[in-house]
Amino acid sequence: MSNYHIKHLEEYFKVYRKSIREPENFWEEIAEEHFVWRKHWDKVLSWDFKKPEIKWFEGAKLNITENCIDRHLFTKGDKTAILFEPNDPNEASEHISYRQLYERVNKFSNVLKDNGVGKGDRVCIYLPMIPELAISVLACARIGAVHSVVFAGFSSTALSTRINDSECKMVITSDGSYRGSKTIDLKGIVDEALESTKCVETVLVAKRINSDIAIKENRDKWLQPLLDKASPECSPEIIDAEDPLFILYTSGSTGKPKGMVHSSGGYMVYTAYTFKNVFNYKHDDIYWCTADIGWITGHSYIVYGPLANGATTVMFEGVPSYPDTGRFWDIIEKHKVTQFYTAPTAIRALAKAELDYVNKHDLSSLKVLGTVGEPINEDAWHWYDDNVGKNNSPIVDTWWQTETGGIMLSPIPYVTPTIPTYATLPMPGVQPCLMDDNGKELKGRQVNGKLCIKFPWPSIARTIWGDHERYKNTYFSTFENMYFTGDGALRDAVGYYRITGRTDDVIIVSGHNMGTAPIEDIINEHQAVVESAIVGFPHDVKGSALYGYITLKESAKGRKLENIHKEINQIITEHIGPIAKLDKIQFTNGLPKTRSGKIMRRILRKIANNETDNLGDTSTLLNPEVVQEIIDGKV
Ligand code: PRX
Repeated sequence: MSNYHIKHLEEYFKVYRKSIREPENFWEEIAEEHFVWRKHWDKVLSWDFKKPEIKWFEGAKLNITENCIDRHLFTKGDKTAILFEPNDPNEASEHISYRQLYERVNKFSNVLKDNGVGKGDRVCIYLPMIPELAISVLACARIGAVHSVVFAGFSSTALSTRINDSECKMVITSDGSYRGSKTIDLKGIVDEALESTKCVETVLVAKRINSDIAIKENRDKWLQPLLDKASPECSPEIIDAEDPLFILYTSGSTGKPKGMVHSSGGYMVYTAYTFKNVFNYKHDDIYWCTADIGWITGHSYIVYGPLANGATTVMFEGVPSYPDTGRFWDIIEKHKVTQFYTAPTAIRALAKAELDYVNKHDLSSLKVLGTVGEPINEDAWHWYDDNVGKNNSPIVDTWWQTETGGIMLSPIPYVTPTIPTYATLPMPGVQPCLMDDNGKELKGRQVNGKLCIKFPWPSIARTIWGDHERYKNTYFSTFENMYFTGDGALRDAVGYYRITGRTDDVIIVSGHNMGTAPIEDIINEHQAVVESAIVGFPHDVKGSALYGYITLKESAKGRKLENIHKEINQIITEHIGPIAKLDKIQFTNGLPKTRSGKIMRRILRKIANNETDNLGDTSTLLNPEVVQEIIDGKV
């Protein structure tokens, strides 16, 4: 189909209209012409947002790795599939060709099978950004096992919760990881996590930092000797389009993390199609997304989307500030990166450094710049445009979610005129709408409401692992017959969308979703704490940061607050990870409550945001006197 790759605005509108008028024909043509299927589907789409149940390409059979690897071997066998850039710039980068990737994935697949992993089994992957991470993801997919990648910055408690929730049979990890000048003892974290799990039979350990680690007999195995012995051929397991491909956990505003389940066929079609269009991908491009594969951005736009297009995808192990804050720009110059996709928080952090760090590098290879994960503020947008893109590379502000699997709203570069802070227009096949609080759709232009999607797209998550009811309640119960995103958005006079932020108790810190209730639960476990409330406040690098209001027990009043402050961040780090630490803590004598005993977060949010002139009506509070006290004690 000629319009697989959209090249001008008129074509976008034509394609978009077709995708809405005849969604099934639209996606069927794309699926038929651009992918390898072992059996054709019986039905393109069946859906019911009430149940909810969504199926794409039902009856079709495929293996996503045949699409991401095997089919490129004839034409692109020697082309670099994965370009690995290590943490230390003095260590050589590694170019893994499609042929090498094929062999490495097959060997890994055979190791998984030899260790008792088969179709449908869950495998937890807890690895740093080294090639084994992408390879193990693909190896699971090749044998039909369901991967559950856990970001290697999460603590042992967070890891064991995720392992237990999906009952993983195996964990794949490494002896440790490099992070700038530090090393992290990943295997130690896994050992600790496994003390509270019963389902894991085998731990495969990749060697990365050559540290001396404990090996538990009959459970832990070094990976390399097993790979050395494995055969480089492994036929792919042919699975149903609707079989689960992976589980990826995301935090909700309450409760334990939600294991979003993505299926194979629709996810492949959608991530490949959006990758091609949103990054204007061309054959010789060198594409780099700086996310970690532990997040959805890495799954969809480091691994599956790029490889399904036969692209070269860069995998960077390190951090933007090591050995200095010019590292990103150094890598772009070194590998002549054409598309660069990162998060606003990274842009804001790098914008604080001397401009010379950027200017001394040749960035002329760049053609498209992308951002994702949180709203990008206007200053950061312009800094990116002026200094990185030299006003010559369009910025694609891509809005999407773990649950959506792929990019939903975004400009198409060289096609959609961009406006700073606007995610602009929907991708073909995406039908956004804005709702008011009474459940009525806001039609027309210049409206502001809650962002929903009216119609299924191929990569929507199909359920929450083990809790379909929660899936229904979280996404399909707020508005009838709609998927509710949890975000607010406005539609301007030309129909462009701008995301205004979360409408629930999720705070996005440095691009990471943080549910406030799970963090409060952990704080409340501290023996000195009566109760706590967390709100977000603006932070110039993180976008938002966490502000905790904490009431202490009488018995703790003699203790040094400084120590309690440290202990609280310590338990948060232990239970979730350092990303959830509070930037500010205010110890209070009480929290403002309604007469029914509910904490009035609205007031606390305003105080943290310095909006005390406009606190609204506080007279109905149970304890209005604490409000002034809290204002006076603001940190
Ligand atoms: O609030 C939106 C914000 O990130 C949330 C999704 O987070 P997560 O599932 O971790 O996925 C992040 C990567 C896809 C959304 O509900 N968000 C994501 N992208 C943008 C954004 N907010 C504003 N602009 C964006 N471009």
